[in-house]
Amino acid sequence: MEEQFRVVQVSDTHLSHRHPHFLANWRRFAAAIAEAPPRLVVNTGDASLAGARHREDLVAAAELHAALPCAWRIVPGNHDAGDHPALCDGSGRRLPATRERLAAFRATLGPDRFLEDIGGWRLLGINGMLLGSGLPEEEEQFAWLEAARAGAGDRLLALFLHKPPFLSDPAEPGPVYWSVDPRARARLMGLLDDARLRLVGCGHLHEHFARRHGAAEIRCCPSLAFVASPALQPEAAGGARETGWLEHVFTRDGVATRVVTAGLSRTLLDDVVDEVYPERRR
Ligand SMILES: [Fe+2]
Ligand SMILES: [Fe+2]
Repeated sequence: MEEQFRVVQVSDTHLSHRHPHFLANWRRFAAAIAEAPPRLVVNTGDASLAGARHREDLVAAAELHAALPCAWRIVPGNHDAGDHPALCDGSGRRLPATRERLAAFRATLGPDRFLEDIGGWRLLGINGMLLGSGLPEEEEQFAWLEAARAGAGDRLLALFLHKPPFLSDPAEPGPVYWSVDPRARARLMGLLDDARLRLVGCGHLHEHFARRHGAAEIRCCPSLAFVASPALQPEAAGGARETGWLEHVFTRDGVATRVVTAGLSRTLLDDVVDEVYPERRR
């Protein structure tokens, strides 16, 4: 089918000038975007190395995205805006999503959600770190999302968020680190089961996989920054451990997705994790 437009999805870029290990792949990515700018770049979170802890990492991510020669949107990841409160034990190893961290994200990187109508499509990006947070903004976002879905008419839908809605089964329990909180997931099921929904683009797992759910394909974008070994990240969903990004070609009635890995370093997170994430040892 004839291409209507292209969206490039990048994820888990983990950008920082404090620890610049992952900037070389970003530069390769930015060069590819400059060569053939898509209609939109969507970063599905963990844009910054540790922006929830170090504001300057949010600033670094903002500056690097601002240099791209096309429109871009970033939805927050746990390293940008904090994580589900039930996953944070108070040790400081993980930081919870709070109104202050949300405000810092918005002030630095812009709105934490988006709606783009392009061609016959409605593209929605949501702040997945609000899901299960209990913050007032969580309810407000659900209301916005329902209105966006209800008002889509006969447009096809694509959804972008940081964590995958589930790893293998919508009924799987939680909260777990690797996917959306089950109670929030239940409230997303109307959208996930919507026959107009054709693509869910997520990240967070630092690997690439594709799952079919009803009419939609769930695509987990690999990290641009690094791969993690099974020893460091054993909970992965059985996808491909590679660095790369996704190119989504939207046509009148579907999306064709390909993963781009050529020319990228395959940095092993294990080799640098104690340096870039010292809080892991708490
Ligand atoms: Fe990440
Ligand atoms: Fe993440």
